[in-house]
Amino acid sequence: MSRKPFLFLSCLLLLLVGFSVDLGQSLKVPFSVDDVLPMLPRQVSWPVLNSFHSAVDLLPVFIGSLTPNNNASLEWKGACFHGNEARLDITPSDRDDPGLGGGLLHLKTSEAHSLTCMDLYVFATPYRITWDYYFSARDHTLSFDSWEETAELDYVKEHGVSVFLMPSGMLGTLLSLIDVLPLFSNTAWGENANLAFLKKHMGATFEKRPQPWRSVINPEDVHSGDFLAVSKIRGRWGGFETLEKWVTGGFAGHTAVCLKDDLGRLWVGESGHENEKGEEIIVVIPWDEWWALTLKDNSNPQVALLPLHPDVRGKFNNTAAWEYARSMLGKPYGYHNMIFSWIDTLGDNYPPPLDAHLVISVMSMWTRVQPAYAANMWNEALNKRLGTEDLDLYGILEETARRGMSFDELLTIPEQDEWVYSDGKSTTCVAFILAMYKAAGVFGPLADHIQVTEFTIRDAYTLRLFEDNQTRLPSWCNTEKGKLEFCQILGEYRMELPGYNTIDPYPNMNENCPSLPPYYERPSKC
Ligand SMILES: *[C@@H]1O[C@H](CO)[C@@H](O)[C@H](O)[C@H]1NC(C)=O
Ligand SMILES: *[C@@H]1O[C@H](CO)[C@@H](O)[C@H](O)[C@H]1NC(C)=O
Ligand SMILES: *[C@@H]1O[C@H](CO)[C@@H](O)[C@H](O)[C@H]1NC(C)=O
Repeated sequence: MSRKPFLFLSCLLLLLVGFSVDLGQSLKVPFSVDDVLPMLPRQVSWPVLNSFHSAVDLLPVFIGSLTPNNNASLEWKGACFHGNEARLDITPSDRDDPGLGGGLLHLKTSEAHSLTCMDLYVFATPYRITWDYYFSARDHTLSFDSWEETAELDYVKEHGVSVFLMPSGMLGTLLSLIDVLPLFSNTAWGENANLAFLKKHMGATFEKRPQPWRSVINPEDVHSGDFLAVSKIRGRWGGFETLEKWVTGGFAGHTAVCLKDDLGRLWVGESGHENEKGEEIIVVIPWDEWWALTLKDNSNPQVALLPLHPDVRGKFNNTAAWEYARSMLGKPYGYHNMIFSWIDTLGDNYPPPLDAHLVISVMSMWTRVQPAYAANMWNEALNKRLGTEDLDLYGILEETARRGMSFDELLTIPEQDEWVYSDGKSTTCVAFILAMYKAAGVFGPLADHIQVTEFTIRDAYTLRLFEDNQTRLPSWCNTEKGKLEFCQILGEYRMELPGYNTIDPYPNMNENCPSLPPYYERPSKC
């Protein structure tokens, strides 16, 4: 996944985690709401939002962008401190540590309106997001140790660092993130943080399994439609997948699918394959290439092969599957779908309007930081839900309010598979596979009543479509003498896929399923 969506999605996830931890604690934050809410400098932005329901009082306020040019400073009235001034200096790189250099943000607070109040700020570029909070009237500094890449430095020189004043009630949320950040570290420590998080919050076990940790597969035993479930546990991707797993209840974080051509050669179809430009796209590549990349992957992937049941394989129309796959080649990974399938999960799990508030906080911040990207990520999807065109986020909010609908109701309108976005049809990794199954006839006459974009990875591996007789699994499967119901082909830890191969497809499946940690109970026929 390229960096920009990655950062946005990570943020959304981080806030979700922080937020859920925060639910129990928010009452302990020793600030009264009155300290903050009436003082928000609303004139700064969003006149429309004033008429939107009370959640608006909980939204971040965009203060402005701080550029390093001309020694310019930004002045504004905060919620707690009425006099604030800030400027940004670019700092040269350290002599011991040559690099791009960093930045130093000076922020001066004065005229507190009460002794106990504080102001909480988020500072964002498309490459990073950081935050700080101020209790006392004095000069503060915030240092950006080093820019991520030249592009970030260029961005900051031109557009500046965006400053947002946050509702102080979000302090608990942000503080709780400190526990989550190690998940992203590409070290043994980071990997252990991921394992510990998944054990604690999802009841995962991560038992070491006997060798071989890497199977040598015989392509003759693999068939079109066989499903690959991947679980990454280290580094940037590991941390991302851990949070994704936690939100969706899935014990795998990525998927791909096997395809055989007419000459019997084995291929892998994958949505979310990174091309040379760093974009995540849909590809079909030879098995050997996919396997080599997987073995090289520094996120320590664990991989399972879930062969289709022979009866399902019998129905599988390989020509139609290839036709579908070819029609999607080179198309972008489905960020639109991904966001909305998570939000769906959210909407069922958290009391409104807090869930919607959280989503819209992140969306509104990103709208300021990267308007074009925001339009593509969610404005289109929200317009489709309203049946409107080209409204921006604020227009969407206004229209939603006019219809007497709450924002969370809007968010939970299910995605339709036939919606086409301006960057073309797009699918997430798992929607790509299920759409291929749909095309290949796996769902038979139910196909018209299944919206694959509503499926998470967990929803896919719990479908009863896979081999249920272990004696028919290929001989190179390391099933540890019957301990595993599927074929694990890579990884030192035994993969778990709770509920694997148990749910028969039914009409309108997964359009209304909650998934609440830590047990993720699923009502039947939801
Ligand atoms: C930049 O602003 C700071 C504080 O306002 C001031 O002390 C400094 O002299 C200014 N530098 C230049 C080059 O104008
Ligand atoms: C398989 O799919 C192809 C292409 O969609 C179609 O022409 C063919 O009739 C299908 N075969 C069967 C047995 O349904
Ligand atoms: C499993 O497959 C084997 C080999 O095909 C067969 O002999 C056996 O009866 C099957 N078991 C069940 C429970 O279907």
